[in-house]
Amino acid sequence: MGFLLLFIFLLLPPLMILVFFPRKSKSYNLPPGPRGLPILGNMLDLGPELHKTMAGLKQVYGPVVWLRIGTINTMVIQTVEAATELFKNHDVSFADRRIGDVSRSYNYADASLALAPYGAFWRVLRRVCSAEMFTSRKMNDTAAIRRKSVDDMLMWIEKEASIAGRRGVEVARFAFLASFNMLGNVVLSRDLADPEAEITSEFYNAMMRTIELSGRSNISDIFPCLRLLDLQGLRRKMTRETGITMGIASSFLKERMKEGADDRENPKDFLSILLEFKGKGKDEPEKFSEHEILVLILEMFIAGTESTSSSVEWAMSELLRNPEAMEKARAEISKVVGSETKLEESDIDNLPYLQAVVKETFRLHPPLPFLLPRKSGEDTKFMGYDVPKDTQVFVNVWAIGRDPECWEDPLTFKPERFLGSNIDVKGQHFELLPFGAGRRICVGLPLGHRMTHFVLGSLLHQFDWEVEQSVDPKTMDMRDRVGITLRKLQPLKAIPRKHVIGNL
Ligand code: HEM
Repeated sequence: MGFLLLFIFLLLPPLMILVFFPRKSKSYNLPPGPRGLPILGNMLDLGPELHKTMAGLKQVYGPVVWLRIGTINTMVIQTVEAATELFKNHDVSFADRRIGDVSRSYNYADASLALAPYGAFWRVLRRVCSAEMFTSRKMNDTAAIRRKSVDDMLMWIEKEASIAGRRGVEVARFAFLASFNMLGNVVLSRDLADPEAEITSEFYNAMMRTIELSGRSNISDIFPCLRLLDLQGLRRKMTRETGITMGIASSFLKERMKEGADDRENPKDFLSILLEFKGKGKDEPEKFSEHEILVLILEMFIAGTESTSSSVEWAMSELLRNPEAMEKARAEISKVVGSETKLEESDIDNLPYLQAVVKETFRLHPPLPFLLPRKSGEDTKFMGYDVPKDTQVFVNVWAIGRDPECWEDPLTFKPERFLGSNIDVKGQHFELLPFGAGRRICVGLPLGHRMTHFVLGSLLHQFDWEVEQSVDPKTMDMRDRVGITLRKLQPLKAIPRKHVIGNL
């Protein structure tokens, strides 16, 4: 109540100014949308499950919906046709990002690839990441690291299962640890998920809190005039957590600099690549500053962990609810890999049903239901409407993935729909965009895609899975919650049993 009163008290003066001295605004032909209240705009209509509320608005207002969230003009893309138009014909106009207040802590946003305005600095960061980490050759060079991270994960699960008995293990936690451990090695050549080492668990815990804070909705983003007050204290908390992670990353960096030139052979880790970077031409910095290096390192962890682990959790939940699909996926793995050897990344190409399971999971549960919000860099004409500069743009891939005009029987989990279909997730098929599309498509797509298949395939190959006794798979709670990604509200707990050889 105190918070509400303070809020009204703070908003009253600007409200009076707007009512009594309205600003003459340019007349725009905006897309249709629900009428909002003065100042609050459509805030009170939206509720906590924004992706669902917005999907509902499509029935009334059509493929492009206009909202005012507090003071933020927002355009929501709701259909495959509107997404196609956006990415094919207007990608550059909507290639900037909206920056949330917490991302300004520690000047994080100034050096971030994901938040950089579309321009020269973004281009150089993007080129370095793509060319040095995510080409097919670089990905193959780091295959052994992913193998080791997945092996460790399987071992940890087995250990936990032996203690937990009839209780389930939290699937997402282990998938997260596998990604975190893998990134620790690819980026810093360190086993950061090692629970025995104090500094690494401090880094892990602060990183978890950073990820959690990044996913919170913040009144300062809706009313930037309140930023200074930091009413929810999110900026303050984020400054503390980013300080801890940056401090630890900085100690890793200093250690590396003391060691001198990197004589590691193939593969060089990302830290070495950033330290050795030399810019070409006048648009590129001569070298990266310490701050830029630290932010890029943190960004790989923030962007690359939750997205992969939440995809694995949703896929396992859907398979447990759909025993036929589970059986088909396991039978395919058994046929291709056998029960004597481990599933390898190179097997994935020969596992079309597993690939279909992952696509179907991405369709129903895209980790980023609106992608990363874009922003218009200039006044733009879009589908006959005027979109003013600085409009925030949500591409509602969650709604597109469930649109009956694109998909037959859209709410049913049916991997078979992708067998023999040429639809992939690489940004060319606008009905399925878990990694986005256009210039700002996920730069880590090759890694996220491979890790999701590899972790899920290995979990299925290594263990039989069942839900805890108190849960009926048919009525399992599949509600989601919005954070940095769209996670399962009730984390999936499932009981793993190691396969008896020849049992598949
Ligand atoms: C299943 C795994 C993943 C999913 C579903 C995913 C999804 C996405 C999406 C939807 C975007 C925004 C695209 C757009 O605006 O059009 C994005 C951007 C990004 N992702 Fe991923 N991601 C995944 C894994 C990763 C990994 C493993 C990394 C790196 C280690 C990564 C790094 C990034 C970065 C840096 C950006 C910003 C790119 C830019 O703005 O140019 N992602 N991701």
